[in-house]
Amino acid sequence: MDKLVIDGGVPLKGTVPVSGAKNAALPLLMATIVAPGEHRIANLPELADVESMLSLLGRIGCPSLMGPIVRIDTSRVAWCEAPYDLVRKMRASVLALGPLLARCGEAHVSLPGGCAIGVRPIDQHLRGLEALGCEFQMDNGYVHGKVKALKGAHMRLDMPTVTGTENILMAAVLAHGDTTIENAAAEPEVEELGAFLNSLGAKVEGAGTATIHVQGVTSLVPATRPWHILPDRIEAGTYLVAAAITGGDIRCENARADHLAPVLDVLRAAGCGVETGDDFVRVWRNGPVTPVDITTAPHPGFPTDMQAQLMALLSLANGSSQIRETIFENRFMHVAELLRLGARIDINGNLATVHGVPELSGATVMATDLRASASLVLAGLAARGRTEILRIYHLDRGYEHLAEKLRGVGANVQRGQEGRPVTHIVSA
Ligand code: EPU
Repeated sequence: MDKLVIDGGVPLKGTVPVSGAKNAALPLLMATIVAPGEHRIANLPELADVESMLSLLGRIGCPSLMGPIVRIDTSRVAWCEAPYDLVRKMRASVLALGPLLARCGEAHVSLPGGCAIGVRPIDQHLRGLEALGCEFQMDNGYVHGKVKALKGAHMRLDMPTVTGTENILMAAVLAHGDTTIENAAAEPEVEELGAFLNSLGAKVEGAGTATIHVQGVTSLVPATRPWHILPDRIEAGTYLVAAAITGGDIRCENARADHLAPVLDVLRAAGCGVETGDDFVRVWRNGPVTPVDITTAPHPGFPTDMQAQLMALLSLANGSSQIRETIFENRFMHVAELLRLGARIDINGNLATVHGVPELSGATVMATDLRASASLVLAGLAARGRTEILRIYHLDRGYEHLAEKLRGVGANVQRGQEGRPVTHIVSA
């Protein structure tokens, strides 16, 4: 297994190009199922999760051709199944449910189960699809769905689930009649999916707000022009925190400042300089890190996917910060590892109190999930001495060319193999 070796303490300076958004790419790839034919997608990030989604499409009978513009042929759907070996690797495979039901009238999707960050049930996905006329049965760890004819419905979700909203939306576009989803997730990735579906001929309004209206259509066709995936706000946010935590200055190119607003507010409050333009965001820090209290919330609140990274930064503040996690019940897995790097953090239920320390010191730590891993990388970049991060396959799921991009802004970071020493680190 690969590890990441970081010699920390260097202020990172320069420009980082932001990749296409993982959490926009995954539903969008599944959405190609609802419009038979050849789709062309640009700015698809090279990530393990994207590869898994393309494998799932391949299993269903929809081959893809890689390149700067990825081609996916959904002319034929041979199987309506998302098997356990793929869902186990990536929970987002559950996004096959809505599109397969819409396209084939049936779907067999392995139940995703829990994961490192929590139980993560899919009851809202199923309830929403049931409102559209689908019927479900659980059997042998699978959810088996079928529907004769999808019909529009008015529904209110118990919580604004992101992939739940996306699953329901991908089915509703081909339902007979109108659908309204209230308390829908308003994340930019949901807005992107709505816009993509509209490019196929769907009639979706309000995606990216709490109320989505869909006028069902009878068929959809691939767009004539390639779809360009929006920039990854969480990847951009992570590099901006890298500038903040190392006392550096990073400009993220292709970043959307509007999508990063709650993160930029926290960085300003923590003592960072922030500059934004049409397609870039720049963050720098010269003075001390000041403590900030954070509560995660659905968009447009502070994203849970940035909580671990900000905790790494606030572990170096000149005072105590409180971080409350309200989205997932088990998203403090990074805390025990941050403690090994010298941070002082107490946890009480979903509340972490981060007592700032003057410095962190390098150690060997273990990555547990994607964003927890990112926070360890950030802490390692700021820490005195060498940090080795094990199990970095989590990072490969969501950060394209991470080591290269970090070296591009001056970090001393290298990939190596667990159990083997890395003696020489070359920065770019
Ligand atoms: N929930 C239910 N029932 C449901 C659906 C969700 O109880 O039917 C609960 C979840 O257990 C959780 C909360 O609702 O406590 C919110 O979960 P949500 O469904 O919104 O999360 P998700 O759709 O599974 C997506 C992202 C996550 C991101 C969350 C929250 C994708 C592929 N994944 O997950 O991204 O953290 O929204 O914004 O879009 C990541 O990229 O590292 C990541 C975990």
